Amino acid sequence: MSNSTQDRIIIFDTTLRDGEQSPGATLNIDEKLVIAKQLARLGVDIIEAGFAFASPGDFEAVSKIAQTVGTENGPIICSLARARHDDIKAAAEAIKGAAKGRIHTFIATSDIHLEYKLKKTRSEVLAVAEEMVAYAKSFTNDIEFSPEDAGRSDPEFLYEVLEKVINAGATTVNIPDTVGYTTPSEFGALIKGIKENVPNIDKAIISVHGHDDLGLAVANFLEAVKNGARQLECTINGIGERAGNAALEELVMALHVRRQYFNPFFGKPANSEESLTNIDTRQLYKTSRLVSSLTGMLVQPNKAIVGANAFAHESGIHQDGVLKNKLTYEIMDAQLIGLTENQIVLGKHSGRNAVRTRLKELGYELSETDLNKAFVRFKEVADKKKEITDWDLEALVNDEIKQAPELFKLELVQVSCGDHARATATVTLRNPSGEELTDAAIGTGPVDAIYKAINRVAGVPNQLIEFSVQSVTAGIDALGEVTIRLQHEGRVFSGHAANTDIIVASAQAYVNALNRLYASSQQQRQHAQLAINS
Ligand code: KIV
Ligand code: ZN
Repeated sequence: MSNSTQDRIIIFDTTLRDGEQSPGATLNIDEKLVIAKQLARLGVDIIEAGFAFASPGDFEAVSKIAQTVGTENGPIICSLARARHDDIKAAAEAIKGAAKGRIHTFIATSDIHLEYKLKKTRSEVLAVAEEMVAYAKSFTNDIEFSPEDAGRSDPEFLYEVLEKVINAGATTVNIPDTVGYTTPSEFGALIKGIKENVPNIDKAIISVHGHDDLGLAVANFLEAVKNGARQLECTINGIGERAGNAALEELVMALHVRRQYFNPFFGKPANSEESLTNIDTRQLYKTSRLVSSLTGMLVQPNKAIVGANAFAHESGIHQDGVLKNKLTYEIMDAQLIGLTENQIVLGKHSGRNAVRTRLKELGYELSETDLNKAFVRFKEVADKKKEITDWDLEALVNDEIKQAPELFKLELVQVSCGDHARATATVTLRNPSGEELTDAAIGTGPVDAIYKAINRVAGVPNQLIEFSVQSVTAGIDALGEVTIRLQHEGRVFSGHAANTDIIVASAQAYVNALNRLYASSQQQRQHAQLAINS
């Protein structure tokens, strides 16, 4: 496909690869699969499912997603690979199960990376890029090549590399602003320069990838689109390395809301109503919530498109205007991103079948075991909360999916607190050997007391770096979602739980994160032991 004939934008989602590189956002295979299925429903063209060579877990995740989500009518499934034989071979193996698979290989091209990271000359990098693209091509036709740190690379060298890799078989050339350094006009000019100076550029799609270190990633991409980029690499909620990647929902909605402005850059009449992406925008809000709850990366309230305040009008003047005519202060309808009025669907008399049917309508196809677990949770909540909304149901299911291996199990939590009482918590945990242990602690407040008591019982060293409570819906009986992040030896682990009692949710979220931390240190210990024995 030539980029000049491409009359819409290809959305390449890298939430499961670059997004998962955010500190603490680590997802297990089941969680990745749930997100991949939702990305397919959202309508992304390509899912970068991971970096197959990075670990056996990454390999398995890419391969499972390829087999399950990479159907004939589904998205292309892609694996990242450094420009090395073993990386590329692992990527090829992992995407084998997909009807449409892509290998995305990369090597840095900026002088700073060449000198300090790769310790290679330009001609060495050129040769490696060419050879590795040709090698990847021996596995599949769909090859993407990225000159890492393109934003700081010498454009003349970049043109040379791109020409060579396209000749070697690259069908997409991706231009990353790896360190989020460029400005919109510079990035647009870089794409323009590539279009004008790479003689065989019409044989490949130009893609862009960028980080948000200066808050410019989305603006850079839109300028790149105006100059001929036709694939955008982005993540849900903009999660990713450091300040994150360009946010998918912002790009898609900018191209949708302002399509009259962008249409002419695609050779279309300004008033064309044809969509510039294949995304089903009504799935955006749901996807954002799913990614946020499974990664533990909260969405700031003022975040564009999917933030809690994105469609809220606080000032009297704005409220008055919106009541008279929405267009006075709203450039898009909340329904467009799937933010409908909360539908009240179920209550305490609803049966298993009703829960299963509604979950299916919401896109959750649960196994019998998971449905049973979700139904038990549903009944517990329905006993305390009269009306169970779609959002409540989603929170409960996400909560079940998010559960880490239950190494420590919370058996009991009890607190006493108040303005004339020292906050005291009693906690009973079952430890991984099955012993039931109870202890109590005093804290500055009930949550602090609980966490101190849990630490006394579990004896797993950690530092709490983030604690937050959000309510799933409005109302005094709302479910409270607690997200926490713990740090240990430089690594971050998140925990998440939803309950009508936020004290219980706080304890469950903490135990959830502790289980992740504990499982990871056990794994490290096993690897170290294997290394000693081998
Ligand atoms: O930021 C970056 O340069 C990347 C590449 C691997 C595309 O993530
Ligand atoms: Zn990146």
